[in-house]
Amino acid sequence: MSFPAHRPRRLRTTPAVRRLARETHLVPSQLVLPMFVREGIDEPREIGSMPGVFQHTLDSLRRAATDAAASGIGGVMLFGVPAVRDACGTGADDDRGILNVATRAVVEEVGDALVVQTDLCLDEFTDHGHCGVLAEDGSVDNDATLERYVAMGLAQARAGSAMLGLSGMMDGQVAAVREALEGEGLVDTLILAYSAKYAGAFYGPFREAVDSQLKGDRRSYQLDPANAREGVREAIMDVDEGADVVMVKPALPYLDVLADVRSAVDVPVWAYQVSGEYAMIQAAAANGWIDGRGAMLEALLGIRRAGADAILTYAAVEAAGWLRDAL
Ligand code: PBG
Repeated sequence: MSFPAHRPRRLRTTPAVRRLARETHLVPSQLVLPMFVREGIDEPREIGSMPGVFQHTLDSLRRAATDAAASGIGGVMLFGVPAVRDACGTGADDDRGILNVATRAVVEEVGDALVVQTDLCLDEFTDHGHCGVLAEDGSVDNDATLERYVAMGLAQARAGSAMLGLSGMMDGQVAAVREALEGEGLVDTLILAYSAKYAGAFYGPFREAVDSQLKGDRRSYQLDPANAREGVREAIMDVDEGADVVMVKPALPYLDVLADVRSAVDVPVWAYQVSGEYAMIQAAAANGWIDGRGAMLEALLGIRRAGADAILTYAAVEAAGWLRDAL
């Protein structure tokens, strides 16, 4: 059975038919906006490599969170940039630490209109920039780091974070934080596990965004870009340990991993369109080499098509506006 019985173009003839034949949909509630708040600045600062993305003051963060809620997106993910750092990242679990203060402010501002999420990782708070604490020999000490994550997770949950984004890639991090939450009666706090987080070049602009102190790389804890099966294994382990949602990160270079994880687990699967993915589209659009809006929506739709139920993207609010206009 083939041509002329089948003319696939019939399903593409008019905008109305194309709309009805569409397999994948992208709606604002599926988007989550990552946001940065920096301690000790008076004015928001635009991040050079991420046009339209700011290091916020507490005040500008509140205003931007209100705008985000009005746009209809699903949530925000907060990152803190502290004024002072130390070897074990004490600012991370301090109630007066910038991220915990900002979390309380945003929750107070937007209430239930957004799912307020927090990055649970030490790299913004350590003076060496690694995602954990260091052993004598300079390596990242997995089990000592878990104790820090537990303290940080409890502080974030108490500050009102609805969802803890465990992005450090330590073994056992989901189990450790889940057990601690249960022990404290914090049974409704969600855990988003960055299960398949790959070590690579696409986090470049983020390092500027958080004023990263890192020298060297994260290859002893983040995944090797060559490995897909290992990403699936991490996701399955995280579900076993109590993750509510698992994530693949970056997104576009890892769509195969996303599709594999989608079929391997039955919890929601999210993807993070990271800073470098955002910056590439912005830079090409600024040069007139690409249609920025079209490329961004196509990338987000592709990430959905590969299996992401929701997407963290720096373009969340802008994309929500485009999607509303297109209705
Ligand atoms: C670690 C963390 C990173 C990102 C999110 N959480 C940096 C890293 O792993 O080096 C990167 C996000 C992005 O590039 O947009 N706390």
